[in-house]
Amino acid sequence: MKILAIDTSCDETSVAVTNGAEVLSNVISSQVKQHAKFGGVVPMLAARLHEGRIEKVADLALQRAGLTWSGIDGLAVTYGPGLAPALQVGIAFAKSKSQALNLPLWAVNHMAGHLASVLAVTPGKPVKPFNYPLLALLVSGGHTELVVVESWGQFKIIGQTLDDAVGEAYDKVAKLLGLGYPGGKVLADLAKLGDPYKYDLPVPMHRHKEMNFSYSGLKNAVRLLVEGLGPVLSKQQLLDVAAGFERVAQQHLLEKVGLALDLYPETQGLVAAGGVVANKRLRSRLRKIAHQHGLPIHFPASSKLCTDNAAMIGVAAWLDRQVGKEPADLSRLDRVPDLSLDKNDFTSHL
Ligand code: KG4
Ligand code: ZN
Repeated sequence: MKILAIDTSCDETSVAVTNGAEVLSNVISSQVKQHAKFGGVVPMLAARLHEGRIEKVADLALQRAGLTWSGIDGLAVTYGPGLAPALQVGIAFAKSKSQALNLPLWAVNHMAGHLASVLAVTPGKPVKPFNYPLLALLVSGGHTELVVVESWGQFKIIGQTLDDAVGEAYDKVAKLLGLGYPGGKVLADLAKLGDPYKYDLPVPMHRHKEMNFSYSGLKNAVRLLVEGLGPVLSKQQLLDVAAGFERVAQQHLLEKVGLALDLYPETQGLVAAGGVVANKRLRSRLRKIAHQHGLPIHFPASSKLCTDNAAMIGVAAWLDRQVGKEPADLSRLDRVPDLSLDKNDFTSHL
């Protein structure tokens, strides 16, 4: 079944065509430059830009998949979580296409999309199926979640951030180091060149035997460290601060993953997804912890599949459909900006 999937949850206008877990096309039109001058995503600006771009992005997704609308069997769209005005644009577009072309439309949870992103493959490549129950670490600019996946659709959040998300912490620390916005990736690149043990930064919630996360204390500790180092940091100091932050930010994730694996010994595999999983050092540290527990680990196949994209929404819709989720009732489908995986009840909002 060929699905045209849409994600406009934040600042990327994305449309993809998927067939099962195969990605036939995955077009992402980023608005990063337009928001950068405001130092963060402006929801109404995001919505306006999505509106201006969505039709063209959809046409390009079809073209790259070698299809026209007549080759599409169904639609999928993110209905939450995300920025309300931004979500609205994708939903309105999906509804109008669904009506005009008489196509079934599946409403997809964006975080379920990140989870499904690890199954996405290029056409012809084998799909590595999940063995349940799984433990998933979902880490992005908006979320830091540990999720037990009993089976597809049976999600239980066992840990989440109490303040900033880890990707947000990368971006905020990058900003205070003068690396611009969004600077998470730039910061990660600099961290490779520094000494991660030069400065002693505290691992958040180190002694807490629970699986929540907190990044605001670490961000403040970096701010105080930078202020103490003087008005201008030397290049080496900058690299060492970046490396120290990254070591501790990741240590926090690893400690909680370790705790969760001890608490859920029935776990059959680890999934790590979301923008922060584009980070190679995080991947290798997670690989190590999975190996220590004798578990397979699933990552998205590319960094394009880590950050927001519509292909993951198409793959999630395919999984949703396999477990019996019906297409949305268009008259009831609405955005749910604070949608949670815990409430992934397929009928409550639709
Ligand atoms: O999944 P995503 O595109 O957006 C949300 O749904 O939030 O994730 C974006 C986040 C940003 O905060 C960015 O700083 C972070 O992912 N990120 C990284 C790296 N590349 C992107 N964080 C650490 N290391 C990277 N290489
Ligand atoms: Zn996301």
